[in-house]
Amino acid sequence: MSNRTVYFDNNATTCVAPEVREAMMPFFGELYGNPSSMHAFGGQVEKYVKDARERVAEFFHARPDEIIFTSCATESDNTAIRGAAEFFGRGTKVVTTAVEHPAVLQPCRRLKAQGYEEVELPVDHVGQIDLGQLRETLKGTKDAVVSVMWANNETGTVFPIKEVAEIAKEAGATIHTDAVQACGKVDIDVTKVPVDMLAVSGHKFHAPKGIGILYVRRGTKFKPFMLGGHQESGRRAGTENVPYIVGIARACELARDGMADEAAKLAPMRDRLEAGILASCPNVIVNGDRAHRLPNTLNVGFEYIEGEAIAYRLSDAGICISTGSACASGSLDPSHVIRAMGVPFIAVHGSTRFSLSRYNTMEDVDYVLEKLPPIIAELRRMSPFGPGMDPTTYK
Ligand SMILES: Cc1ncc(COP(=O)(O)O)c(C=O)c1O
Repeated sequence: MSNRTVYFDNNATTCVAPEVREAMMPFFGELYGNPSSMHAFGGQVEKYVKDARERVAEFFHARPDEIIFTSCATESDNTAIRGAAEFFGRGTKVVTTAVEHPAVLQPCRRLKAQGYEEVELPVDHVGQIDLGQLRETLKGTKDAVVSVMWANNETGTVFPIKEVAEIAKEAGATIHTDAVQACGKVDIDVTKVPVDMLAVSGHKFHAPKGIGILYVRRGTKFKPFMLGGHQESGRRAGTENVPYIVGIARACELARDGMADEAAKLAPMRDRLEAGILASCPNVIVNGDRAHRLPNTLNVGFEYIEGEAIAYRLSDAGICISTGSACASGSLDPSHVIRAMGVPFIAVHGSTRFSLSRYNTMEDVDYVLEKLPPIIAELRRMSPFGPGMDPTTYK
C-alpha cells in the first residue's frame, strides 16, 4: 500500500470543503433547535434555513420557494419523476435516456411496471441522444414526463439540456434533469434553461453525503413523495437537516465563486492525463463526447483487460478511480452506459473513469501517468485476450 493518495474518483464523491465544514459546526453544537418549533430557540435556527434557501436559489438563479431540500439526489430524482407521473396518472408517457443513473432509470422502470408508458431513448457512440427522436417520441402526447440528465456521471458527456427542455416544453411535457454531475462544474441557470425540475447532490460538490436539492419551478405539478409533515411547504416531509442545509448553501457559494477558475485548471489536467494515457498505452479508446464533456472527467476503455484489475492495482499505488459507476460496483456487469454507447466489447470491460476535483494537482496527474502504463502492460501480458482473438470467447 502506497503512502501517497491520489483521489481521482470525484464523480463518486468529493471531500467536504473546509469552508463547508466550518459553516456547519455551530449546528452540531449550540444551534440545535428544530426550525419548526414555536419558541425563539428553534426560531433562531429557522432563519439560517431561510438564509441557506435564499443562497441556494441565487446559485441556480431561482426563487427561494422553488428550492426543496432532500436527503440526496436519489430522493430528488424519485420525487421529481414519480411525483410528476403520479400527478398525471397511469398511462402517462415517461421518457428518459438509456444512460441515466439508476436513481432515474429505476423509478422510470417501476412506473412502467405500474402501467405507465416508458421510453428509454438510445444514444450514439459518444453518448448523445437524437433530439429529432425526442421530438418524435413526444408527438401527440399530453402531460408527458421527460427526464434527461445534464451530464453523464461515467463519461462526463454534457447533454444539450436547453434544447431538450425546449422540445419538452413545446410538447407540453414536464421536464426534469438530473444535474448531479453538472453542479459546480458548469453554470446552471434556470432562467436560461427552461427545466421544470432539477436534482443535485451535496456530496458531489464538496458538501456532505446525505443532502440533496430538488429545484421545482413555480407552477410545476407533482405529488410529494415524502409524506408526514408540513416541512418544505408541504412538499417534502421530515425535520430539516439544518447543518447539512447550511453546508450545501456554502458549497453552492464556493462553486459560484470558483467554478470558472476550476474549469480552467481541471480541463488541462484532464487533457494531459488523456494525452499521456493515449501516448503510453496502446489499444485504448476514449469513451464519451470529447467536444461536450465535463472538464473533470475522463473515461477510457483499455482493450483486452478488466477495469476491476486496473482499479485494484492502482489502489495499491494509492490511486483511487472507478470502473462504471460506483453505485454499480460490487456487480461485475459491464456498465449500462458504456454498453448503450455501443463501445466495442473488447473495451467495455476495461472502461475506467478518472474524475478530478479542485483539490487535485498536475503532480497527481504525473503520478498516475508514472504508475499506470506498467500496470496496463503487465495486465496485458497476463490477459488471455488480445488482438486477433476469437470474439465469441469474450463477452
Ligand atoms: C448522475 C447521478 N445521479 C444521481 C446520483 C445519486 O446521488 P446521491 O448519492 O445523492 O443519491 C448520482 C450518484 O452517483 C449520480 O452520479
